[in-house]
Amino acid sequence: MKEKAKRLAQKIQCYDKIQIVSHIDADGITSASIAHKALERADKDIDVKFIKQLDENEIDTLKDRENGLIWFTDLGSGQLKGLEDIDCIITDHHEPQGKTGPPSLAERENILSYGNSDILELNPHRYGLDGAKELSGSGTTYLVAKEMDKSNKDLSKLAVIGAVGDLQAAENNELIGKNREILKEGIETGVVDKKIETTLYGIESRPLPKLLEYASDPVLPGLTGEESACTNFLVENDIPLKEGETWRRWYDLSKEEKRSILSGLAKRMLDRGYPVEYAESLVGEVYEFPDEERGTMLHEAKEFSTLLNSCGRYEKGDIGLKVCLGDREKNLKKARSLLKGHQKVLVDSLQYVENIGVEEREHLQFFHGKDEIPDTVVGTVAGMLLSSGDVERRLPIIAFAKSEERDGVKVSSRGTKRLVKKGLDLSSIMSKCSKKVGGEGGGHDIAAGALIPDGKEEEFLGEVEDMIESQLQG
Ligand code: C5P
Ligand code: C5P
Ligand code: ZN
Repeated sequence: MKEKAKRLAQKIQCYDKIQIVSHIDADGITSASIAHKALERADKDIDVKFIKQLDENEIDTLKDRENGLIWFTDLGSGQLKGLEDIDCIITDHHEPQGKTGPPSLAERENILSYGNSDILELNPHRYGLDGAKELSGSGTTYLVAKEMDKSNKDLSKLAVIGAVGDLQAAENNELIGKNREILKEGIETGVVDKKIETTLYGIESRPLPKLLEYASDPVLPGLTGEESACTNFLVENDIPLKEGETWRRWYDLSKEEKRSILSGLAKRMLDRGYPVEYAESLVGEVYEFPDEERGTMLHEAKEFSTLLNSCGRYEKGDIGLKVCLGDREKNLKKARSLLKGHQKVLVDSLQYVENIGVEEREHLQFFHGKDEIPDTVVGTVAGMLLSSGDVERRLPIIAFAKSEERDGVKVSSRGTKRLVKKGLDLSSIMSKCSKKVGGEGGGHDIAAGALIPDGKEEEFLGEVEDMIESQLQG
């Protein structure tokens, strides 16, 4: 990978003008920020464009550009063939187009010919790494930035945020694989701190009772969604809720107070028959940034990435980019207000699904968000439902929503670690089944998406159900 990254870096040096094209989520925004910083330091003329998905329309618009190089980050590998006429490089971690299992000899030759053509692509899947958990789009981009100049090692901070934003640390409660090497470089460079902490979301910014009340991963039995139960729980554990007039937050607590809360929570779970692993998931690695102010969302990776998602998913990727690049003041304020909106959208969307219900079939479950759930958050909502345990964990979940920019229906799908172990690969399912009904799609084994024509939902579900059945049987 290092050799290949070096070749991409060399190619970049041959151009003055570079257009970055990136995905609109947290990983995409941090990918673009890493590329931007590295190019800025190399004195290049830079332009950035954020997109939801790289489809034929988007590719056609890019073909009309004048000159210079395009750097695709956190996308591109699923559309390699369509990019053949574009002078570009790709740093992506989505499953490459046409990949079904380990690369065959023919595929390897194909890879070589891509390497020799104008497209230079760096993607963990080509090196036996799992792009859903071992390396993110921002991590892949970072590997090239580092080859451009060693001083870019400080950008490892952004790669950690991107990986966390893509939920790459969620399964193991720590970053693994190549992500872990990048984390180590961040720690060595002094831009990242690693701590063992609670994995609950909001240790910097949420008042203590809200930390418990809004907990969704893991859900806290008897506490999540129950305001007064949360306050009572804290009071029973002798935890003062306020310091003067201000709510205390997790990072204000002493070690003893943290221990008392965590053992209280674990006991509650075990008493109610939850498995030990569930209680264990309360604690894990947390990544902090010493150059950011304590008690702000920018100080911790999960909160930072959520702030970025709140920008990207509402077409304001450029605000997230500026926050990452350090152009704060106005942009941070805007990002915070976008976050408030994002949280409301998530609550309303979950409520909507609760009202309409999730329909179960033999091999999958699904819901249709229509135009009530934005197409950019329908995947997040599906993932939240699956991890909350409010829906069947044995079945992959498929979610639809009306596509906002294009005619058609946006599809998101999510699986579990257990289903993937049994053979589920949502990336190939989304790519193949959408093609069958006249759409396009791709992603990762555990999380993938597509765009299909209006009215094709039922036919598509049939194809998906057949393919899930055969993957899980095989
Ligand atoms: O486009 P990109 O690769 O950046 O997005 C990855 C998506 O996969 C994210 O939406 C993330 O939430 C999802 N994911 C997941 N569970 C995992 C890993 C990733 O839902 N274990
Ligand atoms: O949109 P959603 O969050 O469901 O996307 C899940 C994963 O599938 C992401 O990594 C996303 O980039 C990918 N995806 C894709 N092609 C699409 C839609 C989503 O590769 N048409
Ligand atoms: Zn990504």
